[in-house]
Amino acid sequence: MPEFRVGRQDEFADGDKRLMIVGGVEVGLFRLDGDIFCWRNICPHQGGPVCQGQVFRRVLDVIDESGQQRGRTYHDSDKNIVCPWHGAEFDIRTGRHAGTGRLRLRAVATEIRDGEVYLHVDSDQ
Ligand code: FES
Repeated sequence: MPEFRVGRQDEFADGDKRLMIVGGVEVGLFRLDGDIFCWRNICPHQGGPVCQGQVFRRVLDVIDESGQQRGRTYHDSDKNIVCPWHGAEFDIRTGRHAGTGRLRLRAVATEIRDGEVYLHVDSDQ
């Protein structure tokens, strides 16, 4: 699979989101807590440009001892990307949809070598 160098690791700040075309393929690259994640910019729902969406902390329901919902809060470190077409949310680390395991982002293999970030992208897949 073709390999593309996309920059030095330290060029990507924590919380960065970069959209790029690599080997003819649109991808979204994210840096979270020092780790790099990369996904194809195609939403598994209906093909929207998911990586162009906004990034939010994961929302958690607050449930009391009687089972009643008592508001919402945000997870400290989990981050979701929200597809701009219909609002589907995906975990940036896993690519999984927040509600169903049927929908998942398509991963782009990443590798960090000697401080450089490489993506392995096959435009035929
Ligand atoms: S295309 Fe992304 S939520 Fe529908």
